[in-house]
Amino acid sequence: MNTERSTRAAFQRVIDGSTGNAERRLRPHYEAGSAMTGEHLLITGGAGFIGSAIVDAALARGYQVRVLDSLRADVHGPLPAFVSEPERASDREPERESESPVEVASAPQSVTASVVPGPGPESGPMIEPGPSFRARARNARPAGLDPRVEFILGDVTDPGTVARALEDIDVVCHQAAKVGLGVDFADAPDYVHSNEVGTAVLLAGMAERGIRRLVLASSMVVYGEGSYRGPNGFTRPGPRLSSDLDAGRFDPLDPQTGLALEPVLVSESDPLDPRNVYASSKLGQEYLATAWARSTGGRVAALRYHNVYGPGMPQNTPYAGVASLFRSAIERGEAPRVYEDGQQRRDFVHVLDVAAANIAALEFTAHSDSGIFRPFNVGSGIVHTIGDMATALAAAAGGLTPIVTGQYRLGDVRHITASSERLRAELGWSAQVSFEDGMREFATAPLRAAVRP
Ligand SMILES: NC(=O)c1ccc[n+]([C@@H]2O[C@H](COP(=O)([O-])OP(=O)(O)OC[C@H]3O[C@@H](n4cnc5c(N)ncnc54)[C@H](O)[C@@H]3O)[C@@H](O)[C@H]2O)c1
Repeated sequence: MNTERSTRAAFQRVIDGSTGNAERRLRPHYEAGSAMTGEHLLITGGAGFIGSAIVDAALARGYQVRVLDSLRADVHGPLPAFVSEPERASDREPERESESPVEVASAPQSVTASVVPGPGPESGPMIEPGPSFRARARNARPAGLDPRVEFILGDVTDPGTVARALEDIDVVCHQAAKVGLGVDFADAPDYVHSNEVGTAVLLAGMAERGIRRLVLASSMVVYGEGSYRGPNGFTRPGPRLSSDLDAGRFDPLDPQTGLALEPVLVSESDPLDPRNVYASSKLGQEYLATAWARSTGGRVAALRYHNVYGPGMPQNTPYAGVASLFRSAIERGEAPRVYEDGQQRRDFVHVLDVAAANIAALEFTAHSDSGIFRPFNVGSGIVHTIGDMATALAAAAGGLTPIVTGQYRLGDVRHITASSERLRAELGWSAQVSFEDGMREFATAPLRAAVRP
């Protein structure tokens, strides 16, 4: 295996063909073909922001790609709006129940029923079962999905759908998840069901079929607050107190001296400390995958993504990343509003680099020891602050100067930055998109339409 070659992606900036103007897009140059050529790859969540970039990278690499995605309404909006034009035309044909009945029968209720917009932002879509919808659901396919990709509309929590999706598959890349921090604790069952139950169902299906290779999308949130150096060595401080935050003391403090601790990079062997339901569900996925690898002799690469950004990112939802929220504010002609003092340290990694990391990880699972669960941090390796990002975006888009508000959200971590040295050393991956190029592109790149105001 030559992972160094397989993961290297040279990027070029190109003039956008549709406008012919100065809009620039970053394009990867994946090496075509490999020893893996022709392997059958299932990508769950392959219609999502990161999943769709992995689809493109995997096709370029020579995989035969199948996508399983439920097209969650809170991610993609009501289903009919998501069906591409030719498929809408086919909806008008009389329904033939005998065609692919399993696609309809084994899909979950949210996609086997007619979906119409709900009355409010919290209510989600209303469900209105009907046979005409079943034809739509059967034909549903994300507009723009490469025609070489086999698409299955269905939920990873449904064992029948998963069984069908796993037929003839060699390796699985599991991206499907309910993402973001959620709105309140009432979201907890949805996170646990979609992320943990979904992963359990997927792993059970893989165990049954003897599929032994998994790449799991995990997250830096499993670490909680970052790692720090204090007067007595390295430390992992607990949650910050509202009394400190109210007084503008945003940095975690050394309990003995009261002085601000110095942030350092976390490594994969640092303690795990998920601090919200989403984080706990991502760590739950990792624990399930560890147990699965032990019990089946399977091989898992878990990619703990840092803050991923790039074209196609969702906008303006309670779940959207901060880059996307700033970008949306600039587009509305408003100044980005930066919480705390803007000095929160993060690592912003471009979605094309994350896709390349997934390709390297897929190939790792072909050659690693059986029974292994290996986590890898995925970050650009360059630390920036939230304030840096707001400034870079506003400058690139000609927007208003960011406002640092001093507001805070209890539960936000102050600094979290990781070392991606393991991914570089063991899988030959390194980030190719610089912060400057990536932010310049992101400032004007198309985002995924907001599905809720
Ligand atoms: N975006 C980030 O910055 C980031 C950071 C760390 C980790 N991650 C992880 O990366 C993965 C992809 O995230 P994303 O940002 O592309 O999110 P996304 O919401 O854009 O994509 C997720 C996709 O999964 C699908 N999905 C969700 N639940 C499903 C289910 N039960 N069955 C089938 N399909 C389902 C959705 O319809 C969507 O298309 C997730 O596992 C997420 O936890 C993302």
